[in-house]
Amino acid sequence: MKELFLVLARSAILYLGIMAAVMSNPLQSDPSSVQQRVDALLARMTLAEKIGQMNQQHSDAATAVSSLGDAIRRGEVGSVLNVVDVDTINELQRIATEESRLGIPLLVARDVIHGFKTIMPIPLGQAATWNPGLVQEAARMAAREAAASGLNWTFAPMIDITRDPRWGRIAESPGEDPYLAETMAAAMVLGFQGEELSAPGRIAACAKHFAGYGAAESGRDYATTNLSEYELRNYYLRPFKAAIDAGASTIMASFSDLNGVPATANEFLMRQVLREEWRFEGFVVSDWASIRQLSIHGLTENDRESGKAAVSAGIDMDMMSHIFSRYLAGLIEDGEIDPALIDAAAAKILALKFRLGLFDNAQTDPSAYPGFAAPDALAVAREAALQSAVLLKNDDRALPLDAGKLDRLAVIGPLADAPYEQLGTWIFDGDPRLSVTPLAALRARLGDTVDIRYVRAMKTSRSRVSPAFDDAVEAAKESDVALLFLGEESILSGEAHSRANIDLPGDQAELVRRIRATGKPVIAVILAGRPLTLSNVVDEVDAILFAWHPGTMGGEAITDLLLGVASPSGRLPATFPRMVGQVPIYYNQKNTGKPPSDDKIVSIDEIDTHAPQTSFGMTAFHLDTHYTPLFPFGHGLSYTTFEYHDIVTDRDEIRLGDTLKVRATLVNTGDTPADEVAQLYVRDLAGSLTRPVRELKRYRRFRLEPGEETVVEFELHTDDLAFFGRDMQAVTEPGGFHAWIGGSSDTTLRTGFRIVE
Ligand code: BGC
Repeated sequence: MKELFLVLARSAILYLGIMAAVMSNPLQSDPSSVQQRVDALLARMTLAEKIGQMNQQHSDAATAVSSLGDAIRRGEVGSVLNVVDVDTINELQRIATEESRLGIPLLVARDVIHGFKTIMPIPLGQAATWNPGLVQEAARMAAREAAASGLNWTFAPMIDITRDPRWGRIAESPGEDPYLAETMAAAMVLGFQGEELSAPGRIAACAKHFAGYGAAESGRDYATTNLSEYELRNYYLRPFKAAIDAGASTIMASFSDLNGVPATANEFLMRQVLREEWRFEGFVVSDWASIRQLSIHGLTENDRESGKAAVSAGIDMDMMSHIFSRYLAGLIEDGEIDPALIDAAAAKILALKFRLGLFDNAQTDPSAYPGFAAPDALAVAREAALQSAVLLKNDDRALPLDAGKLDRLAVIGPLADAPYEQLGTWIFDGDPRLSVTPLAALRARLGDTVDIRYVRAMKTSRSRVSPAFDDAVEAAKESDVALLFLGEESILSGEAHSRANIDLPGDQAELVRRIRATGKPVIAVILAGRPLTLSNVVDEVDAILFAWHPGTMGGEAITDLLLGVASPSGRLPATFPRMVGQVPIYYNQKNTGKPPSDDKIVSIDEIDTHAPQTSFGMTAFHLDTHYTPLFPFGHGLSYTTFEYHDIVTDRDEIRLGDTLKVRATLVNTGDTPADEVAQLYVRDLAGSLTRPVRELKRYRRFRLEPGEETVVEFELHTDDLAFFGRDMQAVTEPGGFHAWIGGSSDTTLRTGFRIVE
């Protein structure tokens, strides 16, 4: 806590420093001078040099200078990706600035997704903190470490809404809710970029993947997406608008086909929404070879046509298709594209280079930075991991463990001591040697007083029953408590790592059953890159702590929670289905004309074969599972109990343009100090287009001592109740609303109000 306070104090000092820098550097703070410098440079550039700016090339550090040096000298490369060695980057920048005709520096990009060397929880885990301030700090630390390596552009935040835990990239996403995603998007952009891009330790952000990628059919990566404009605008596009409002410098086009037009050639997305409606001034980069893929999608017949389609739609930079560099000049010569497109793209790319301060100094001095895994970065990583873990169940207060009463502890499972796996997907630069595993942290904390018996039991999460299961059972029998570290390795989520079955892999459920049979308390800590279907283990354990892939400091954070040093406070950013066949299942669904209800539920085993078709009441449910999820969006327990009561609004009726207050009393009714995430949901009862049964509108973390009571108050302007209506314009419609305040999306504490004209 003290470390975190220091971190926050330091960020305040850094912020003041940044403001001082802004004030003393009029060139950087004045966008008109950036524009003047861009215009002056553009006027001196040849067509080939402009097209060169639109070309992004990959190389590893070992071969970068030999493979890219000459092209950079000739002005044919505007950006490189995946070169991370600072000396190599400095050399590439030296070549660009000293040996190319116009001395234009490079954008040096990398996927810094949830940390660089110090790894923070996966983005889905960060969303589970419901703490944008902390998420912003995590991005700031990642940016600082990346900047110290010479990088100046990250391909993050990834802000694809998804309702599909099969999709491997849910790990990188903020989950299923547009409002939570908006807040995470803004936090990450601010964390990477700060208020002033040219300040030390800041790098440009890239909001990706625009747009709709998270709706990939059946959760198969890269698969088709079909999204109505209603769905797009009311759910999928919103985090992108928030990222842009927070200042995101760049956008990445999605790989996916959206309603028949792949995003990379989708004029509706790139021109109408991004440029005309949102007035986005940064630039758009394709995804890796996504321009070339336009012909594989079947949209174009060849690469030349693909280049034309992409640049016409509004793609400014070609990541690794080599198509802009090959075909744009010819397309202009043949009059097939307007040269103004090239000027506009090059100008936007150059503007970012000016704003980053690269024309003033493109060299990086690592000694100007605190170094990797500095104490403040580790403190943020630890706090983020701590706040991201979600206590799904805790029967009879099985947790926290009372260390004073423990003699022997069995630590079992493939993820108890897996330094690499706890880091999660997209950790190119993460250093597993920095990882503190749960086993290491438990040993360090309890080693002197508690006999810890560790049995890995499974070589990987996918292993089958083996004699090692017997060793695990023995260890459990001889211990006071069995702590199981289950889940999936990092390779089972992330790009192109989707799963059709999202149960715990391998024979983990069987391991749980065998340990359960010992009669000892069983605590499951699950490390995973996605929501899993836990129906086959949920009743076999006393408690489940869902820790995602928690990053470098995961073991310390998990140990703090297990031992009650802190109380769990993460909340689910995505619904946990009972079984995979329920997917997509999400809290902000529509009511339908025949909503399900509990009194009509039957078990498929009890169905009377000859009963009439209408015997179940004809509602929207599956015959073979309950219509609710196993754990709803927003769910998460703590070591205390919280109660909400007396929800009220300050007025029953408000006029369009007014602000309403919704408040409720929150009490810590237990005996432990803890954080609670209070959540405000609203339902628009009748709309010109049907509206979701609930929508998250606000949330806030509170810390309450035992017995402490507070008033949770949220303000809502009527604009906050707007949605994209029939003509696809944002509109707030008069009428009746319900509002709930509580600790989860299934809260029942409700009030109501009306909006009048
Ligand atoms: C991914 C992007 C990533 C890019 C560069 C692509 O395969 O879809 O998210 O930024 O590669 O590594």
